[in-house]
Amino acid sequence: MRQTMNVKFYSCLLVIFLTNTVWTRNIRSYYDQIDWSFYSFECPQECFCPRSFPNALYCDSKELKEIPIIPARIWYLYLQNNLIETITEQSFANATQLKWINLNNNKITNNGIEKGVFARLKSLLYLFLEDNELEEVPAPLPASLEQLRLARNKITRIPGEVFSNLENLTVLDLHHNKLLDSTLSDVTFQGLNNLIQLNIAQNSLTKMPPILPTNVMQLFLDNNSIEAIPDNYFNAMLKLLFLRLNNNKLTDEGLPAKIFNISSLLDLQLSHNELTKIPAITTHLEHLHLDNNRISSINGTQICPIPIPAEHVYQRDLPRLRYLRLDGNEIKPPIPFDLMLCFRSLQAVVI
Ligand SMILES: *[C@@H]1O[C@H](CO)[C@@H](O)[C@H](O)[C@H]1NC(C)=O
Ligand SMILES: *[C@@H]1O[C@H](CO)[C@@H](O)[C@H](O)[C@H]1NC(C)=O
Ligand SMILES: *[C@@H]1O[C@H](CO)[C@@H](O)[C@H](O)[C@H]1NC(C)=O
Ligand SMILES: *[C@@H]1O[C@H](CO)[C@@H](O)[C@H](O)[C@H]1NC(C)=O
Ligand SMILES: *[C@@H]1O[C@H](CO)[C@@H](O)[C@H](O)[C@H]1NC(C)=O
Repeated sequence: MRQTMNVKFYSCLLVIFLTNTVWTRNIRSYYDQIDWSFYSFECPQECFCPRSFPNALYCDSKELKEIPIIPARIWYLYLQNNLIETITEQSFANATQLKWINLNNNKITNNGIEKGVFARLKSLLYLFLEDNELEEVPAPLPASLEQLRLARNKITRIPGEVFSNLENLTVLDLHHNKLLDSTLSDVTFQGLNNLIQLNIAQNSLTKMPPILPTNVMQLFLDNNSIEAIPDNYFNAMLKLLFLRLNNNKLTDEGLPAKIFNISSLLDLQLSHNELTKIPAITTHLEHLHLDNNRISSINGTQICPIPIPAEHVYQRDLPRLRYLRLDGNEIKPPIPFDLMLCFRSLQAVVI
């Protein structure tokens, strides 16, 4: 009796074991098939589709002249270093999940961009179009955008209000283009309420932009031909930390007395201008670049943002300047003693 039961029990186990294996095998081959079509069939032949990173599509540095049809699963698209001239809606018809597109270093012109092709990509966060042949900021753009990089094109035109819906844009890089004073109007940067970095270095501006987004923390205007800054220009910019105006044509007359009284500012760069005097700074400033101007003397008492502090003063009340560059001027050593008395946190002075 007992013997029989055992046999029955084992045969039962055996059956379960067999079924289980078959079932597992079926599932496996089913998944294998899906993988096969998902990764390989749907990978444009010009591109590389890594199995471990199925949302990324690498089509960079392949001498491509056209953008292949982008599969619907793709989030990250790498198309840099090709010979692409046109961007058509057909390539992106199903790629509605795209988050990043890198099209740097191609041959894209404004005429080559099919109207509205970017605006249809409602999830797009990063759009990189550096080193192309654009003459105008492409429009319209999707409201989801967080970074727009357009450096080293030939941009002279910015369509009115192209940025006005980009409430999430944090980085706008337009450096090394051909922007003129007339390119920028009162409304150009309107709506960019979350912009952190604005780079318009190396353009053809002779004036400061008429109005800047007020929350910008990093403002780069190097290598233009700016001669002056209007009075109270930075008053509304309460978060400005880094201000670069190297390689411009700023003169003493062009700088209102209190122009750099910006309490948030940590880093001020005014190298390669035409200044003969050191402008007034705040106690909060930590880095000041004034090399390659026409400054001939330095009076520590005059540039100290507070009266020269007595010996025992709380550290928090002292000026915080740590780095001062004055080389390429007409200043002769030694460094005046009152400068050291004022700026007790100085770690380097370059004369
Ligand atoms: C988009 O996807 C649909 C359905 O998968 C497919 O029929 C169509 O051919 C795709 N379009 C393009 C341009 O690949
Ligand atoms: C902006 O970002 C916020 C937070 O990530 C998000 O909820 C919102 O939908 C975004 N706006 C647009 C227009 O995409
Ligand atoms: C400005 O121009 C100088 C000299 O041509 C160059 O060395 C520097 O990299 C440029 N800087 C920027 C921010 O464009
Ligand atoms: C600088 O601005 C602050 C407010 O941010 C003000 O209290 C102070 O008086 C100003 N200093 C000068 C010298 O204008
Ligand atoms: C520096 O400026 C102060 C105040 O203007 C003046 O009293 C002092 O003589 C100057 N120092 C030198 C070395 O010129």
